[in-house]
Amino acid sequence: MKHLISPSLLSADFANLKEDIEMVNRSDADWFHIDIMDGVFVPNISFGFPVLAAINHYAKKPLDVHLMIVDPDRYLQQFKDLGAEVITVHYEACTHLHRTIQAIKALGCKAGVAINPHTPVSVLSDIIDDLDLVLVMSVNPGFGGQSFIENTYKKVRELRVLAANRNENLLIEVDGGVNHSNALPLLKAGANVLVAGNAVFSSDNQEGAITELKKITPDSFRI
Ligand code: DX5
Ligand code: ZN
Repeated sequence: MKHLISPSLLSADFANLKEDIEMVNRSDADWFHIDIMDGVFVPNISFGFPVLAAINHYAKKPLDVHLMIVDPDRYLQQFKDLGAEVITVHYEACTHLHRTIQAIKALGCKAGVAINPHTPVSVLSDIIDDLDLVLVMSVNPGFGGQSFIENTYKKVRELRVLAANRNENLLIEVDGGVNHSNALPLLKAGANVLVAGNAVFSSDNQEGAITELKKITPDSFRI
């Protein structure tokens, strides 16, 4: 499978959001990455339902919703109703993760789990078969524009080993500090969805930046 590019609207120009959404529609991007923050799970607040509704109105590609919120179960239906096709919750924010994943699937969405930089891949060992996607945080969640944490490569490789023979179609998404230098080694390690905020939206040629990330072709990934 060709890898997917999911530009993060957190780095978009909120005063011209429609223009940035249309840029992503025109581009080689596959998904819209939507970062929802509650100021409790992470030390920042991003945006909520009215903004998501506006995004959904113009976006012509799947919405990849990354919930950095406590107790996400309360809001899953609302995110589905506002267009989420992928819903990713944080391992660290879910006491009953298995139940939450089943609830996301029951809504007809792809179910993802995100793990923070300090959270080992091994905690997913008993749930890996049930997941559509694992999001590996390559920065501490909460802000765009941070530096990529190098330990991420190792985690992506470990995830591919964990998923081998159990969930061959698992999507592995990397989020935080992804750029044109680390994209190729991430794909080689086994990632197949790249989130890019700053690398896209602070570029002089945003569509071109997306194309560059999309056209990278790793020969293979190794386990
Ligand atoms: C951070 C968010 C990321 C962020 C990525 O908590 O989950 O999606 O927008 O932005 P960059 O690519 O700038 O690190
Ligand atoms: Zn994100």
